[in-house]
Amino acid sequence: MISLSHLKKLKAEGRKFSCLTCYDSSMAKALEVAKIDSILVGDSLGMTIQGHDSTLPVEVTDMAYHTAAVRRGNSHAFIMTDLPFMSYATLNDALQNSKTIMQAGAQMVKLEGGAWLSETVEVLTRNGIPVCVHLGLTPQSVHVFGGYKVQARTRETADQLIADCQAVVAAGAALLLLECVPAQVGKEISELFPQIPVIGIGAGADTDGQVLVQQDMLGLNFSHVAKFVRNFMKEQSGETAIVDAFKAYHAAVLDGSFPALEQTFQIEL
Ligand code: KIV
Repeated sequence: MISLSHLKKLKAEGRKFSCLTCYDSSMAKALEVAKIDSILVGDSLGMTIQGHDSTLPVEVTDMAYHTAAVRRGNSHAFIMTDLPFMSYATLNDALQNSKTIMQAGAQMVKLEGGAWLSETVEVLTRNGIPVCVHLGLTPQSVHVFGGYKVQARTRETADQLIADCQAVVAAGAALLLLECVPAQVGKEISELFPQIPVIGIGAGADTDGQVLVQQDMLGLNFSHVAKFVRNFMKEQSGETAIVDAFKAYHAAVLDGSFPALEQTFQIEL
């Protein structure tokens, strides 16, 4: 099973790693066959599985249920799971809810935020719970942002994001996930932390890992498809098409052909 130290080793070696969201056991097995390096049991399941229009209605019990199903289907990938909306607003909630998620089979929890999460990150890490911090566009704050918009578009806001990353890394964050930021910002942050793997989604080609929502890359999103998505299913046919799409994604992440320029936000800061 891939561990956090393995992901750190891949970063040190300059080998990119693949990550996809997953919520169930049979798809988790397909990801294992395709040798996908890591899985995010994302609270995007509120949209992809439950049919809501945001991640806000998702509960900790949902995350634990899907984490356990994914772990049963996959014994290869590193698994991290989202703590959903308002489930880490107090230190006690963060500890109790992370315990539930880790006991369901996750190897790491993911929280959305910035420097203000430092104490939470420190306490979780001290209690044996590795933490990924998700920064940039953080979907649990969609109503604060007023929509799903590219973040850190100016030098000033990019520097603020970098300061947030520095604060959570100093507090013990073991992994960062950057969503919807200019490619230059993804590159700067990935280079700033040699020991911390950085996963990007819409953060350019220079992050250490890439993640996509599984339904998006399989062409199963029937509403708005974000610029950073590539449909890997389009190129496949026959009964192995799904596994082949996952294999093609893994290969494209490792050889650097995904994301290409057309899936990247090229914004002059
Ligand atoms: O919940 C999720 O799937 C995520 C990804 C969009 C990174 O957080």
